[in-house]
Amino acid sequence: MKFFVDTADVDEIAELVDSGLLDGVTTNPSLVAKTGRDFFQVLEEICALVPGPVSAEVAATEADGMLAEAERLIKVADNVVIKVPLTWEGLKACRALSNDGVGVNVTLCFSAAQAILAAKAGASYVSPFVGRLDDIGHDGMALISDIRQIYDNYVGSLNTQILVASIRHPMHVVEAAKIGAEVVTVPPKILRQLVNHTLTDKGLAAFLADWEKTGQSITKD
Ligand code: E4P
Repeated sequence: MKFFVDTADVDEIAELVDSGLLDGVTTNPSLVAKTGRDFFQVLEEICALVPGPVSAEVAATEADGMLAEAERLIKVADNVVIKVPLTWEGLKACRALSNDGVGVNVTLCFSAAQAILAAKAGASYVSPFVGRLDDIGHDGMALISDIRQIYDNYVGSLNTQILVASIRHPMHVVEAAKIGAEVVTVPPKILRQLVNHTLTDKGLAAFLADWEKTGQSITKD
């Protein structure tokens, strides 16, 4: 499973890149607005830091406008993936970009029917938003299972990866892995939470205390 981080905060991304666990980044207009910085500058910095795909979202709503924006965005770096919304216009843009060999992430997916269309349009990634579905009383992870089942019926002809988005807690990541989604995009705070377990902390404290009692050093004779 690949781990993307869902943020436009360059400092956060730099720290996570250092961990060696990060495979890519997703941004969206809200995350860029949160930084208060110039989009192209931020995108350039992120792309230089991250060895994997970086999703940059278009703001136009017509396919022609999306394609014009995509043309500028892909010039920023080779690892830019164009993020388009799951609308007819977004799907048209996705098909055109995909025909030109550009990676596309189709975002704002809330149904299996939409995920079928994204795959038909040649998306590299489809982003189902599990948290936002849970927020309105639906079962976000059930959508991931449905998409997995559907895509698995067409292995070889559909090359779209499931990128689980709108993750709210570590169990979303675990469930996505059990289902077999290829990618999760996780807010930095939740990515860090994945490592936490009170028994790990307690166990480590006990081991260190006992080691201290031995008076030994592993690095010195
Ligand atoms: C996906 O690419 C989106 O940026 C993101 O996961 C949306 O998450 P939210 O519902 O927490 O805003």
